[in-house]
Amino acid sequence: MRIALFGATGKAGGAILRQCHAAGHELRVLARHPGAIGDADGGVTTTAGDVRELSAVSRVINGTDAVVSAIGGTTAANLAVLDQGTAAILTAMSQHGIRRIIVIQGFHLPWPGDPGNLGQHAMNAVLRMWKPQLHPDTHRMASRLRASELDWTLIRMPRLISGPADNHYRTGSLALGPWSKVTTGQVAHFTLRCLAAGEYVRGAPMIAASSRSRGDALQPPLFEVSPLSKNPSLETKE
Ligand SMILES: NC(=O)c1ccc[n+]([C@@H]2O[C@H](COP(=O)([O-])OP(=O)(O)OC[C@H]3O[C@@H](n4cnc5c(N)ncnc54)[C@H](OP(=O)(O)O)[C@@H]3O)[C@@H](O)[C@H]2O)c1
Repeated sequence: MRIALFGATGKAGGAILRQCHAAGHELRVLARHPGAIGDADGGVTTTAGDVRELSAVSRVINGTDAVVSAIGGTTAANLAVLDQGTAAILTAMSQHGIRRIIVIQGFHLPWPGDPGNLGQHAMNAVLRMWKPQLHPDTHRMASRLRASELDWTLIRMPRLISGPADNHYRTGSLALGPWSKVTTGQVAHFTLRCLAAGEYVRGAPMIAASSRSRGDALQPPLFEVSPLSKNPSLETKE
């Protein structure tokens, strides 16, 4: 598969880059600092640019089969990057006739069918106070995605920690809270699962780490993640 990836220098995006690469997918990446992305083994093409620039986004997306966005970092200097970046991505996808997109965001975003537990409300309240620019940006982005007629999946995760790719995680409508967590490798594994199997199209599953001791059903891995390349930026950091 040819995948356009946004946010590849970040925690989730980096793990997605490494797993996609290990699985043999071709990657087209947009990065503000392309030097941070290497391509020792081939298979990764990097374009310099900002995700809010439609022309750069369009160049990356043209000719791909699917798009993954793990963009983050809303600040006063990087205002509305999620909403405006997602707007540019969706516009470019429509222009080039590409339908499938996976977006990585937080479980604070409410969705029909959620348990609506205290933990999610608490997380929303914390974010609203702690990151006043990020909170509205995530909500606007989610509304924009939901209104799109493309084949989107919004993966909603709790606190992201470094960790290996495995399938010891739960997905769906989960009762999560500030105590919940998931590993970078698990988010990448689930992203690839959604891409490969067409899971959760027009859905917004949460994901969280589970443990064997809780008796969660384990699924066979889709692929083995092997050491990738001699290039440090592509090596597994989990
Ligand atoms: N980490 C968590 O615990 C957690 C939990 C729940 C939800 N989330 C959300 O999930 C998403 C992914 O999380 P993360 O921790 O992997 O994020 P991250 O490490 O902060 O990575 C953000 C990525 O977005 C890129 N980016 C930011 N502004 C950009 C711009 N204007 N143009 C192009 N690229 C830009 C960054 O590139 P640069 O290298 O150029 O900065 C980086 O690659 C974020 O939206 C985050 O808010 C995170």
